[in-house]
Amino acid sequence: MRIVQVPLGNRSYAIKVGGGLLSRLGAECAQLKLGQRCAVITDANVGRKFAQAALKSLSASGFETVLITIPAGEKSKRLAVVEKCLDQLAKHRLERKSFIVALGGGVVGDLAGFVAATYLRGIPFVQVPTTLLAQVDSSVGGKTGVNLKAGKNLVGAFYQPQLVLCDLDALKTLPKREYVSGLAEVIKYGVIYDAVLFAQLERNLPKLLQRDGPTLRSVIARCCEIKADVVGQDETESGLRAILNFGHTIGHAIENSSGYGKFLHGEAIAIGQVAAAKLSQKILGLPSGDAGRIEQLFVHAGLPVRLKLNPIRRKKLLAAMKLDKKVSGGEVKFVLAKKIGRVEFGCKVAAETVEQTLDDCSR
Ligand SMILES: NC(=O)c1ccc[n+]([C@@H]2O[C@H](COP(=O)([O-])OP(=O)(O)OC[C@H]3O[C@@H](n4cnc5c(N)ncnc54)[C@H](O)[C@@H]3O)[C@@H](O)[C@H]2O)c1
Ligand SMILES: [Zn+2]
Repeated sequence: MRIVQVPLGNRSYAIKVGGGLLSRLGAECAQLKLGQRCAVITDANVGRKFAQAALKSLSASGFETVLITIPAGEKSKRLAVVEKCLDQLAKHRLERKSFIVALGGGVVGDLAGFVAATYLRGIPFVQVPTTLLAQVDSSVGGKTGVNLKAGKNLVGAFYQPQLVLCDLDALKTLPKREYVSGLAEVIKYGVIYDAVLFAQLERNLPKLLQRDGPTLRSVIARCCEIKADVVGQDETESGLRAILNFGHTIGHAIENSSGYGKFLHGEAIAIGQVAAAKLSQKILGLPSGDAGRIEQLFVHAGLPVRLKLNPIRRKKLLAAMKLDKKVSGGEVKFVLAKKIGRVEFGCKVAAETVEQTLDDCSR
């Protein structure tokens, strides 16, 4: 097992990465000295596979458990589902010292984290992420929340978990498309922060695609270390944390303008990162060799790097980019790469350069 610390003063916590961790959930929670009662929030897919193991482990350590199962999918990330969960917590009389276990992917983690942040003005919670995306990204860093009709993640709170348990065995049942989509975030960490990780991914991609345990342990732990390092320096995204959005300005616009659901998040940000690399060549002088390696790694991982754009979709995409939550004062700013492993945030790019690059990416 690998342990990564997230350094946030009295809100610091550990991320544990390894096989067989779900069976140790109860023992791990017991070490945290939380209350006796807990609610496990999961979705129907994950619950079917892992809820019994989670409940068994918690009961064996003396916890009284309540299971709350929400429908799987992004549609559950809304206030009506938050309310249902809160009602369940109240009905089962969870108290200030009781805690929540978020067992699932990013949808469950974001929603359950927000429920934990708001019930009785905040009770402890533990993340047990079961998708690759959730293990390397959404379970770490304390962003919780749900969507509104007006857009994604518009309601939420910064609220840190007490512990993150990444059980590598959970990834074995993840559908291939979901798994590969998570690799887009993994590759992102190499591009933004760590040329050595990037080279390791190039070398070990076949093993990674086979979900080889030791490779996954080392790669996931490194991604968590990077996210912890960034979040430790800038918890609430006043600066540096923005680098985690590499490829996301265009990626979010792709998700948004093509109707959510057509592209998985990782697929959209794969295209977004390749586009950002092309922009980086023009604006920051990213060497063409580096841009080529970035594109090739996504291709070899089986992720899309191009987007077919007819004039209507092109227009929609540009409009969506201007609506991005990260836009301030009407100006779209980009995270761009100087070389693999080093990026700069807040880069201004002229509208016509963005349009030109999108056209390059749609050939
Ligand atoms: N909080 C953050 O910092 C942050 C960062 C990135 C993304 N997110 C959010 O994360 C969400 C996406 O997360 P996701 O990609 O994990 O999606 P998800 O939670 O919807 O999971 C994807 C699918 O896989 C299923 N699943 C989960 N684990 C499984 C397993 N082990 N075996 C089989 N099936 C399994 C789920 O039921 C679901 O159908 C989005 O809502 C996004 O906004 C949050
Ligand atoms: Zn992302």
